[in-house]
Amino acid sequence: MKTVTVNLLDRSYQIQISPGLLAGIADRLEEMQADKAVIITDNLVYSLYGKPIISSLKKKNIKYKVIKIPVGEEQKKINTVVKMYDKLVDFQLPRDGVVIALGGGVIGDIAGFVAATYMRGVKLVQVPTTLLAQVDSAVGGKTGVNHPRGKNMIGSFYQPKMVIIDVLTLLTLPQKEVETGLAEVVKYGIIEDESFFNFLEKNSHLLNAKAFKNKKAIPGIMKVWETIVEESCKIKAKVVSEDEREETGRRMILNLGHTFGHAFEALTNYSRYRHGEAVSIGLVAASRLAERMKLIKSEQVAKIIGLLKALNLPVTVDNLPVNKVLESLNIDKKVRQNKINFVVPTAIGKVKIIDQAPLSAVKKVLIEVGCS
Ligand SMILES: NC(=O)c1ccc[n+]([C@@H]2O[C@H](COP(=O)([O-])OP(=O)(O)OC[C@H]3O[C@@H](n4cnc5c(N)ncnc54)[C@H](O)[C@@H]3O)[C@@H](O)[C@H]2O)c1
Repeated sequence: MKTVTVNLLDRSYQIQISPGLLAGIADRLEEMQADKAVIITDNLVYSLYGKPIISSLKKKNIKYKVIKIPVGEEQKKINTVVKMYDKLVDFQLPRDGVVIALGGGVIGDIAGFVAATYMRGVKLVQVPTTLLAQVDSAVGGKTGVNHPRGKNMIGSFYQPKMVIIDVLTLLTLPQKEVETGLAEVVKYGIIEDESFFNFLEKNSHLLNAKAFKNKKAIPGIMKVWETIVEESCKIKAKVVSEDEREETGRRMILNLGHTFGHAFEALTNYSRYRHGEAVSIGLVAASRLAERMKLIKSEQVAKIIGLLKALNLPVTVDNLPVNKVLESLNIDKKVRQNKINFVVPTAIGKVKIIDQAPLSAVKKVLIEVGCS
């Protein structure tokens, strides 16, 4: 088993990563001296992974309740949370009880917020089952729900007591969900670790749902995924440990590719690009901006684009109007005397926050990534 520690003084916790961990979840709860647990999940994930968890809890006589909700981002709203409070009260989950978040980022964010606020906070165990949740959303303590006027507007920072990652759950993940998580994985390589980036290049042919069809190759592929999840979590854990609540600016480096990406997503009403696709194009835009400002060598930019393509991620948009993208970049807030703040790579493994991106350079970059 691989273990990564998120160092946050008295709120430090471990991320445990291994194939087959779901079946032993009750042992982890026992270590936490928890004898009552609520599992928050969605219908699909429950049908795939409910059983091993339930039988593990039964074996250790841990009392449990399952709260299942329909699949989808639409569920990430305050009404869902309110209904969950009722169920927790009915079940009499005590202050030393545990909320287990079993699912992707949507479940992790909702369940995290419920755990943060029910009785002023109960123990939270994140059990992420999508790649995005395993490498990103389950680590770092951001929890919350959407408001009709904005994503993730209601929430709190609330760290889990433990993150349990069973990489075998990736076997059932649809290809598009694998790709969305991979954009974040590539981001980590660019931010912090060139050798990890090279590892991704070397193994790119294995990192898709099709590779799972060759049953004999699965144990080897799982080793690769284990390394990918571990290295990604290490990088996220390090950045979060340095700036838990986005106060020093350090955590901002995790936004590499996201400033452009959010603009592409918002402009197309979150319907044309999946989050990972928008981030992928955003990574290209940030790299091109750095290239234009002579902060990174062109060969390095080519390597970044090459890896994204090898992972089947998009590297251009279709015809979005430059002016609309600039508007969507929330230019009012970010432009200071015609300049915009961005996180850009200066080499593979190194990034920099720049506050001197001239608007003219941003416009040229947008055209380079396919805007008109
Ligand atoms: N808290 C954070 O720091 C943070 C960071 C990034 C994203 N997020 C949030 O995460 C959410 C997106 O998360 P996501 O991409 O995991 O999407 P998701 O939670 O919607 O899951 C995607 C789909 O995959 C299904 N699924 C989950 N695990 C599966 C498995 N093992 N096999 C088959 N299907 C499975 C789910 O039922 C769902 O239909 C967004 O709401 C976003 O705002 C939060």
